[in-house]
Amino acid sequence: MKRNVIKALVYDSKGFVEESFELANKGRIKFSYTSDKLNEFTARRAENYDTVVAFVNDTIDKHVIDTLVKQGKKAIFLRSSGFNNVDLNYVDGKLKIFRVPAYSPEAVAEHAFALIQTSNRRIHKAYIRTRDFNFSLDGLIGNNLNNKTIGIVGTGKIGRVMIDIANGFKMNVIAYDPYPVPNPTNFSYVSFPELLSRSDIISLHCPLTNETKYILNKDTLMKTKKGVMIVNTSRGGLIDSRALLDAIKSRHVSSACLDVYEEETNIFFEDKSNHILDDEVLRDLISMPNVIVTSHQGFLTHEALENIASTVISNITSFFDGTPRNENEISFNGVNKK
Ligand code: NAI
Repeated sequence: MKRNVIKALVYDSKGFVEESFELANKGRIKFSYTSDKLNEFTARRAENYDTVVAFVNDTIDKHVIDTLVKQGKKAIFLRSSGFNNVDLNYVDGKLKIFRVPAYSPEAVAEHAFALIQTSNRRIHKAYIRTRDFNFSLDGLIGNNLNNKTIGIVGTGKIGRVMIDIANGFKMNVIAYDPYPVPNPTNFSYVSFPELLSRSDIISLHCPLTNETKYILNKDTLMKTKKGVMIVNTSRGGLIDSRALLDAIKSRHVSSACLDVYEEETNIFFEDKSNHILDDEVLRDLISMPNVIVTSHQGFLTHEALENIASTVISNITSFFDGTPRNENEISFNGVNKK
């Protein structure tokens, strides 16, 4: 199985991806980069490569899997920790899937708190005002985080960094996870309904699965405390976006911080500033003064990019050397989900 140069096509690539991969590459892999997303139409471009590297908005469905298998591919390498874009049932036994289980939970949790404080302390408004020499304070009143209750959904790697940061702010931390970590010391587990009713801020850190799809929907949003802030840096499909929009319009939800969006695939990571956005829900959400949207950039730190590149490279080389690592590693807090 050992081969000298491995040819890999990196889909949905950006300049910073290429830079980090080339910096980490020791020459064993010859990467080619395309800005195209992997889908049923672009999969055929991988014909002359040994493998492909995919990201969060690439689609690894039946069509793509069949095409890659026909080309003789044995494995796909994700440069993400999330894997909801892979048809796990269909891929089983056909292609091996490798991911980057942890590259920097801090990067995502720190971004989530940056969003929380931007929204809470109206930094996005203040920034625009002072650039226009408007030094008034009207409408900029926020809340202390001290003593407020934050509800963390999913106490995995990112959720636990969130808990540490929240403890630094002296918040009351409650959490829900069907696969709890044993004997937590700096937060308490509660049921999901209790988390909904008690939290001033709800932050989602669970993966997108069949069970968690629309975990925040019309019903569950109405069970939240009036004035709650919703934070999603995990996956867009965890929230029914239209229901969230309605809950914001009815003034039940006070604010939302979204780094992910359920229909982000052909929008996020692209410059759409000269286009009319067809997605009315996203347009409406962005137009709200109390909604902050970032374009899936939670992972975007130098440290995370370095870790992603070096882990993908080591996943590829160890697979082609016959000693695979991080294969289908899909378990939660030690409980295997497959
Ligand atoms: P992890 O696997 O360490 O933790 C996930 C946690 O969610 C586990 O504790 C698991 O038991 C829990 N969980 C599973 N089902 C649940 C349910 N029904 N309700 C509540 N909790 C449930 O994953 P990690 O590294 O903490 O990442 C979490 C998610 O963050 C990823 O799945 C990914 O979607 C997202 N992410 C977003 C990034 C961004 O750039 N915005 C970057 C990296 C990850």
